[in-house]
Amino acid sequence: MRRYNLAIVGIGMVGREMVKVLRERNFPVGELRIFARHPRQVEIEGEVYQVRTIEEKSFEDIDIALFAGTEGEKGAAVAFSRQAIESGAVVIDNGADFRLRPDVPLVVPEVNPQAIKEHKGLIANPNCTTIQMVVALAEIYKRFALKQIVLVSFQSASGAGRGLLEQMQQEIRRISKSEHLSLIPQKRDNLRTQLSFNIIAQIGSFKEEDYTTEEWKTVRETQKIFADRSIKITSTCVRVPVFISHSEAIYFQTRKKAGLEEIKQALQASKGVVFRENPEDFPFPLEAQGRDEVFVGRVRRDIFNENSFWLWSVADNLRKGAALNAIQIAELVCATLN
Ligand SMILES: NC(=O)c1ccc[n+]([C@@H]2O[C@H](COP(=O)([O-])OP(=O)(O)OC[C@H]3O[C@@H](n4cnc5c(N)ncnc54)[C@H](OP(=O)(O)O)[C@@H]3O)[C@@H](O)[C@H]2O)c1
Repeated sequence: MRRYNLAIVGIGMVGREMVKVLRERNFPVGELRIFARHPRQVEIEGEVYQVRTIEEKSFEDIDIALFAGTEGEKGAAVAFSRQAIESGAVVIDNGADFRLRPDVPLVVPEVNPQAIKEHKGLIANPNCTTIQMVVALAEIYKRFALKQIVLVSFQSASGAGRGLLEQMQQEIRRISKSEHLSLIPQKRDNLRTQLSFNIIAQIGSFKEEDYTTEEWKTVRETQKIFADRSIKITSTCVRVPVFISHSEAIYFQTRKKAGLEEIKQALQASKGVVFRENPEDFPFPLEAQGRDEVFVGRVRRDIFNENSFWLWSVADNLRKGAALNAIQIAELVCATLN
């Protein structure tokens, strides 16, 4: 069996999860090179890996480069993806830098695997919140099409990377030793304010129409993945004091006539979804942690509007929302490299 040389760029929350997922899925890895800003050794589930800084020749003989660095001008993908592609690697990027470019496929393997055929060296992994939502809605979309989606997301600290997760752990330690219910004095800086025992109605920065960058991602990425600009999408994305796994309350209206039983049948048949039909058996973020599937429960109809429904979905943002989705894309790429 052919083996593939892989590079992982960035070994934070997502990069570490990638290493675990590669092992769990027995991915046919030849050589594995790990890069970050600072060279060091990291231990992942008992195995020690050497982390190097990127150099000009880093991607030589690499078949697939999985980027999990920070986004933006100084981020890994903007700085190094071109170099990786020119060395002959197929790049799979977790960040937002290239997702909306027309020449870059944005892929969720359960939803639009065919899109990878269009790649020109770079394939983008969608945002965690978007991936989870489109997996939950894909089969419903296929059967009935979607007219409208209203999303409210409850996103975990790990979704913002290692920094916020560690901040929350520190806050909990400090508060548990103090007699106060919050850390005093409070900083009024929304992105850095205390997250523990708090809720922050801002993820990303404010953009057009006072929606945040995260909210715009859920609109534009969902339309791109379904290849359907007619779906009306609106969302409110909220950071909650959960370590891992995002939760989403999703309201949707189908274009074709659909009854509650038909929606439930579509969910039963959905790829990558665990559907809990019993309303009392709704999924929690804690039980999705470390799991690959998107969990769906609390499906119910809107009693005032036809073809309109609510569902509750929970998924591990580091796995299906990032690392697992990227490695599923890598598996599709391998099939094209043979
Ligand atoms: N967390 C999630 O749930 C999630 C979900 C979907 C997508 N994403 C995306 O996935 C990416 C990684 O997220 P994360 O949560 O893993 O972040 P993180 O925990 O903050 O880790 C970022 C990693 O990237 C490395 N890095 C940053 N800039 C780099 C550069 N210029 N060259 C090489 N390495 C660089 C860092 O190196 P050092 O360790 O040396 O500092 C670190 O290892 C981001 O683009 C994020 O938007 C995250």
